[in-house]
Amino acid sequence: MKSYNLTLSVFPSYEEMSKRAALFVFKEFIKKEVKKFVLGLATGSTQIGFRQEFLKLLKKSSLCLKNLYLVNLDEYWPIKKGNPQSYFQEMKQNFWQPLENLKLGFNQKNAFIPNGEGKNPKICALEYEETIKKLGGIDLQMLGVGIEGHIGFNEKGSSLFSKTRLVTLSPSTIEANKRFFLGNKNLVPKKALTMGIATILKAKKILLLANGEKKQAIIKRLIKEPPNKNLPASFLKLHKMVFFFLDKDAYGEKLT
Ligand code: GLP
Repeated sequence: MKSYNLTLSVFPSYEEMSKRAALFVFKEFIKKEVKKFVLGLATGSTQIGFRQEFLKLLKKSSLCLKNLYLVNLDEYWPIKKGNPQSYFQEMKQNFWQPLENLKLGFNQKNAFIPNGEGKNPKICALEYEETIKKLGGIDLQMLGVGIEGHIGFNEKGSSLFSKTRLVTLSPSTIEANKRFFLGNKNLVPKKALTMGIATILKAKKILLLANGEKKQAIIKRLIKEPPNKNLPASFLKLHKMVFFFLDKDAYGEKLT
């Protein structure tokens, strides 16, 4: 039987998982501080703890962040950058601005996210691929996972060779994300621009975070199934350096 790469670490709580993820990213950044470090970021609730812990670590450090570049996975389409529900705003309020406020040299002009308010989604997608290429590729990509196994907004059926593109959100994603839109699924945009599976797999390292019982079923499938289109996150098993950090509720099995 073919064996795939997957390094699983299970932590006793969400807080512990978030701290360890922050430390992991911090260490990767230190290795490349003097050079350019391109960190791929994800949105969603899972990432909140990690981002806060990472900000704390940076605050305590005297590192220079002028070589830190950020690229986000996805953005709704269409959505104005000024819309409080846009991922642009989520990132600006909760990460880019606080990072700049640390006064360690980070500049928000080094933060990128797909353009959800452009005229032509095909052009916006191509431009985003170009941005990543110009940065020299992603050093470390953070990921969450949807309850049906999407990464970014790569829903079931996404090809292994997919690049940044416009996609249609699945009913389950719209249902899961309506909490950010006053609980009204009619307000959730039906489409999004997302890095593709191939774009994600080009990152040098990948760190996926999952917490809570609601992710247990998908994590079980992910561990068991070989890479396949019905479970987009399973394609991560084809990557040489992929790490899964889970809390015990997402893992489900008893820790020994
Ligand atoms: C959204 C994002 C994904 C994220 C997923 C999980 O759909 N586009 O990138 O991984 O949600 O979100 P959460 O962490 O809130 O469960």
